[in-house]
Amino acid sequence: KLSEEDKVRSPICCMMGHIDTGKTKLLDYITGNVQEGEAGGTTQKMGATYLSARNILEKTMELKSDTKLKVPGPLFIDTPGYEFYTNLRSRGLGLCDFAILVVDIMHGLEPQTIECLNLLRMKNTEFIIALNKVDRLYGWRICENAPILEAMKQQTKDVINEFNMRLNEIINQFKEQGLNSELYYKNKEMGETFSIVPTCAISGEGIPDLLLLLVQLTQKTMVEKLITYVDKVQCTVLEVKVMEGYGTTIDVVLVNGELHEGGQIVVCGLQGPIVTTIRALLTPHPIKELHVNGNHVHHEVIKAAECINIIAKDLEHVIVGTALHVVGPDDDIEAIKELVMED
Ligand code: GTP
Ligand code: MG
Ligand code: NA
Repeated sequence: KLSEEDKVRSPICCMMGHIDTGKTKLLDYITGNVQEGEAGGTTQKMGATYLSARNILEKTMELKSDTKLKVPGPLFIDTPGYEFYTNLRSRGLGLCDFAILVVDIMHGLEPQTIECLNLLRMKNTEFIIALNKVDRLYGWRICENAPILEAMKQQTKDVINEFNMRLNEIINQFKEQGLNSELYYKNKEMGETFSIVPTCAISGEGIPDLLLLLVQLTQKTMVEKLITYVDKVQCTVLEVKVMEGYGTTIDVVLVNGELHEGGQIVVCGLQGPIVTTIRALLTPHPIKELHVNGNHVHHEVIKAAECINIIAKDLEHVIVGTALHVVGPDDDIEAIKELVMED
């Protein structure tokens, strides 16, 4: 029997926005992980990173917020902003409980910003707007890790004027799209008016504010949507990759349910359904219990929400973005094979 605490799963947050607005950089800054090997700094797939609740507490300390963390830290799904990847943006968002829409303060709303905005509204997903790259304002004085109001106090009148001018223009652009938005600390009508938090993903101004908003949004979403752990497995393949000593493996994001070592799974392959057995479940970072092996942690069971590396045979031709299905003791494997290929 699960305890009350165990029934709550990590919320999942989607990073969305036009190309090069700084989605990946913001995630790198927030989680302290650096995403390696991005060709030309362009994200070409969905990625997942986890942020622990303790990490959030440490990073929001300066705001002396009385927000108590009653929820686990979020799992972030990064999506590409490149126009070609509409499908991945839509799939990424489909996995998430809420989102961060990243806008470059120097560019304002761009084509994929509007595409993302429409997706967010279509899926009725709550989101925060990160107005990124404030350090690009001419004459910006760097204040590492500072809450945005602290950072603003250090700026000249000219910087503040440029900031206000660009901010107002962007608020107007959102209004043209039918969306009310306002700086988060002036926002009195959460829910109807979307909060904007100015950030810099290089030196961290506004990051404590962004994290705090994330926590608040998490709590609100948890209460409204009851993000509780359910048995039904919901799992999506993010990447197929060769790992030294393991052969071809897959990275998945487990949104609901649990996966077991030794469990039978069915995934969507180029040449048809692939039925295989989970040989090992690995996570790249130390969470709870478990035996550590190199950089990875082995698990016998993993519960949602998590990003997981699965070791199994015959994974060479798995199609990314498709769902992974678990074969239960009473399941009809032929039916699951058909279901898998519908994706
Ligand atoms: P795609 O995944 O390709 O859509 O891009 P992205 O939104 O993930 O942007 P990415 O994190 O790759 O950043 C794009 C470029 O902007 C990189 O050169 C970053 O170093 C730079 N950048 C990101 N955030 C900031 C910021 O706050 N300030 C400044 N000056 N540069 C930034
Ligand atoms: Mg990126
Ligand atoms: Na980029």
